[in-house]
Amino acid sequence: MSRVAIVTGGTRGIGAAISKGLKDAGYTVAATYAGNTQAADKFSAETGIKVYKWDVSDPKACEAGIAQVADDLGDIEVLVNNAGITRDGWFHKMDYDQWSAVMKTNLDSMFTMSRPVLDGMRARGAGRIINISSINGQKGQIGQTNYSAAKAGVIGFTKALAQETARKGITVNCICPGYIDTDMVSAVPEKVLEGIIGQIPVGRLGKAEEIAGMVCYLASTAAAFVTGSVMTINGAQYVANG
Ligand code: CAA
Repeated sequence: MSRVAIVTGGTRGIGAAISKGLKDAGYTVAATYAGNTQAADKFSAETGIKVYKWDVSDPKACEAGIAQVADDLGDIEVLVNNAGITRDGWFHKMDYDQWSAVMKTNLDSMFTMSRPVLDGMRARGAGRIINISSINGQKGQIGQTNYSAAKAGVIGFTKALAQETARKGITVNCICPGYIDTDMVSAVPEKVLEGIIGQIPVGRLGKAEEIAGMVCYLASTAAAFVTGSVMTINGAQYVANG
């Protein structure tokens, strides 16, 4: 069986930790990125992980990019839909560009990335799709109507696709990270972030590696019966039913 994994947004933040975790677990990893070539090149030089630049909200770019990865590395066994952006702001001040940028990158990407890998996974009778949602898709967050809606959509997508693919040996799960120590969370105004950390019973931000560990488990054969699941990893900030 092939051991190739694609991690979108896989060169920075949570995605970088996932790419490294999967590499350590024995996968040949392709990490995609959207724009920050300098960070991607540095990541690739440090880790030996191959990086690919394309926009996950562009269906044609995804088809071409995935075909290129398959040509370069082999059949794709694991897809981690991790790429995501924020455009925070009160809804009454939000413009359509802020809304649609988040919808395209965070939710449309579930289609644009998963659809092209699915035929091959079905034909081989094996595959893993792991989607990164968010605590804020579970509970909603002030300043994030766009992001919360998109991330809630990721949960629905996961549950539906898991049922469709269950008999084909393909599992589909999602992870809802809480506030993790990444550039994305550092962009939250300092005062606001202090308040958020105060709401985390564990008393600290999460680490990207703590999300990567769950991805590696979900990718493994040990997790063959885990599908359609919502894995909550948030230091007990929000205790949700899957
Ligand atoms: N709850 C209640 N009131 C709030 C508030 C909050 N969280 N944040 C701001 N306010 C109030 C302010 O006190 C202020 O009230 P007054 O005018 O009465 O003083 C009013 O709202 C306006 O405040 P600002 O001028 O600060 O508003 P803003 O438009 O500049 O910013 C915001 C508001 C965008 C919501 C900002 O507070 C913010 O960015 N919050 C963080 C949102 C967040 O958690 N994002 C998560 C990013 S990380 C991520 O997304 C990863 C993941 O998956 C977890």
